[in-house]
Amino acid sequence: MTAAPKHCPYGAVAKSFHWLMFFIVGGMFPLGYVMSDMAVSPQKLQLYSWHKSFGMVLLLLAVLRLAWRLFHPPPPLASGAPPIERAAAHGVHGLLYACLFALPISGWLMSSASGLPVVAFGLWQMPNLIDANETDRLFLLQVHMSIGFSLLSLLTAHVTATLYHHLYRRDGTLRRMLPFSAKKRKGSNER
Ligand code: HEM
Repeated sequence: MTAAPKHCPYGAVAKSFHWLMFFIVGGMFPLGYVMSDMAVSPQKLQLYSWHKSFGMVLLLLAVLRLAWRLFHPPPPLASGAPPIERAAAHGVHGLLYACLFALPISGWLMSSASGLPVVAFGLWQMPNLIDANETDRLFLLQVHMSIGFSLLSLLTAHVTATLYHHLYRRDGTLRRMLPFSAKKRKGSNER
């Protein structure tokens, strides 16, 4: 039996994590913006509940995605990129992962500080991480929003770099993360 190669193309699982989280994160920003602007009403509470529930889903997906990545290392970056670009790509990917953890955790902390526990999809009550405290809640709100803006900036850089590779370098960087893009080869070791 031969050992599996260390790096393989992005496979169905890695791609599914990537695009599922893309859709959830993409929905969370407008949801967070709209709900915080609403007057107190049952609809506002419902939107808060969805925001918190999908935040928990994101956190779970972040844990699973990172665990998957540990055992299935991603393919090397496109060849030919100068060291500075490689360092930037690794740096942005690392920070994106950090935000995918920090954003839901800061939301969970904020919810605990407000004294309103997270009840995911009205079914699973999450434990409060800290005691209710208005000063902490206000501080955590700033933290949560700062991480959200950082994630938006990182995503802008990430998408710009992807489009640069796709349109200018034409090195297949985008294609390898797209669903159904990998050429199926007999015995391929996709992850
Ligand atoms: C919520 C939005 C997004 C997040 C959080 C995100 C996050 C990430 C992360 C963490 C990686 C590194 C994966 C790894 O190696 O483990 C990655 C890779 C990648 N992402 Fe995204 N991404 C998002 C949106 C997008 C969008 C909109 C595009 C396309 C325009 C895109 C294109 C890519 C590509 C092509 C790669 C592979 C890069 C490479 O292998 O060099 N991403 N993404």
